[in-house]
Amino acid sequence: MKDTLVIYYSAENHTKKIAEILADKLNADLHEIALKSPYTPEELDWNDEDSRINQEHDDESLREKIELTPETTSPANWENYTKIILCYPIWYGIAAWPTDIFVKAMDWQGKTIIPVCTSHTSGIGQSASLLQAAATNGDWQPGERLFQDATEEEIAALASKI
Ligand SMILES: Cc1cc2nc3c(=O)[nH]c(=O)nc-3n(C[C@H](O)[C@H](O)[C@H](O)COP(=O)(O)O)c2cc1C
Repeated sequence: MKDTLVIYYSAENHTKKIAEILADKLNADLHEIALKSPYTPEELDWNDEDSRINQEHDDESLREKIELTPETTSPANWENYTKIILCYPIWYGIAAWPTDIFVKAMDWQGKTIIPVCTSHTSGIGQSASLLQAAATNGDWQPGERLFQDATEEEIAALASKI
């Protein structure tokens, strides 16, 4: 039975690839944060001011309506994991908001959480501390940041650090 779980949200697969490699390097299980209505490429288009992503960016109340699949909030053997690597993309300087929905839905009691964000240029900023604030409990560690197209060597280096 493994004690480490790598959890990821990924809209465009960069974070997914990184999470898969991290799970392999850490000999951890892998779990996806999946939406009932995933973003289409058009919905994620930040150049379109009417796109879903820009509407949700401008009106935070819309983010609360995002629904996760039932499997997302009931990971198998959740009580067995003591270490969680929480991987997410940066959107407009903060964690992609489906990550917050997941964090609020889960009980983090007895778990050490290491946030790992992926981005194009931004640093981790306040994204990890905002996730910690959204959680009711858990031992939240300072987060890490990887470039969206991090190499296997860079991911391996992070895995040995955490
Ligand atoms: C809506 C949106 C907003 C983004 N905002 C930022 C940002 O503020 N800073 C940044 O460096 N990258 C930003 N990016 C790039 C993503 O953080 C980066 O490509 C990430 O690795 C995507 O992960 P994914 O492919 O798993 O969804 C943004 C991407 C999207 C779709």
